Amino acid sequence: MLNGKRIVLGVTGGIAAYKSVELLRLLTKAGAEVHVVMTRSATEFVGPLTFQALSGNPVHTDLFNLYQESEIGHISLADGADLVVVAPATANLIGKVANGIADDLLTTTIMATKAPVLFAPAMNVNMFENPIYRANEHRLEEHGYHFVEPATGELACGWEGKGKLPDPSYLFDRAAALLHPADLQGERIVITAGPTREEIDPVRYVSNYSSGRMGYAIAEAAVRRGAEVVLISGPTALAPPTGVKLVAVQSAKQMHDAVMAAVDKASVVIKAAAVADYRPAERAESKVKKGGREAWQLELEKNPDILAALGAMKKEWLLVGFAAETDDLIANARKKLEQKNLDLIVANDVTCADAGFDVETNIVRFLFRDGKVEELPKMTKLEVAHSLLDRIIGLKQGG
Ligand code: PMT
Repeated sequence: MLNGKRIVLGVTGGIAAYKSVELLRLLTKAGAEVHVVMTRSATEFVGPLTFQALSGNPVHTDLFNLYQESEIGHISLADGADLVVVAPATANLIGKVANGIADDLLTTTIMATKAPVLFAPAMNVNMFENPIYRANEHRLEEHGYHFVEPATGELACGWEGKGKLPDPSYLFDRAAALLHPADLQGERIVITAGPTREEIDPVRYVSNYSSGRMGYAIAEAAVRRGAEVVLISGPTALAPPTGVKLVAVQSAKQMHDAVMAAVDKASVVIKAAAVADYRPAERAESKVKKGGREAWQLELEKNPDILAALGAMKKEWLLVGFAAETDDLIANARKKLEQKNLDLIVANDVTCADAGFDVETNIVRFLFRDGKVEELPKMTKLEVAHSLLDRIIGLKQGG
């Protein structure tokens, strides 16, 4: 998802420097090429070797190290970066940059780069509230530098208050957001994800293998690209992406009601959920006993088809469905596109390894109303999500 992105991770001397090790791990796991620049005091807290091992690149610590300069000088670090992240950023580092001081490799790189710069300050609460620090931060913000608000809690110095470095996963989200174009700003996207559970009695239900990963990936990609996202999700083990409004539901009926309540203001609706087509005709109030039975016949009745209902009442929104097929992929998906009055359907052959339910990747085809079919290679679900959002933008622009 950050494949091909080059990030300079600046680490300054603070107790929270250990958290930037985890941030580095998340960035490299997402495919970014990360070059770590440490201030001299940062090396007192965490050894450069840790960063070197995890980034797979030499760690830069000294502006005047001739070997490092010949390998990759501060100007090439600055020029080659798609993003510079400084975590933790001390008051000292922020004060220097705010006042144009470039006296080490990190400050020089920050001053020389044209890439976006994200500072994640971490310091004592009184330092954070000091008017001199506040003015420095304000000055940098006015010049287009980005800041992550510190978290509040018990600080390493013993004080309580604002000044903690937030969780690495939150820092990762903020960094990734700066690497995506905000091309969905102003869009309100309703996304469904996960399975539904149709109760038989208080301890049993009918459901399917959906993990929610596909729908959550679309929500994550959309929110990173600036959309306002409502994620209506059946039961999953996933945490909702930062910035997404989660509406948790269980049954198809609840999902139907939540979708209908959310679509009014939507500009795009994407139905990635695996909705149970049928539910038990009766739900027993207490646990059904075996009672010596050898067999148990369960009578099922039809659930509402949420997507078909949306297609029938179609408003301004762009309507996108998924088709999980085990045979005749294209013909069956096209039938759903037409019958449910969709603008686009994402067809996945769920019999393929590495595609469909409960895996990290998917292999999909996009079918459009005009008959066009686009075949995508195996991708992570997040990559599929970004490709889908690209096509949605294309359709909105009349493409
Ligand atoms: O969650 P994951 O583990 O990541 O797996 C992803 C996925 C396989 C669930 C996903 O890629 C996918 O294919 N989702 C749609 C699954 C599905 O229910 O397909 P379908 O062909 O049965 O339904 C077609 C469309 O109608 C879907 O958009 C579905 O949300 C919608 N539908 C179906 C039945 C119903 N009662 N109401 C609906 O809205």
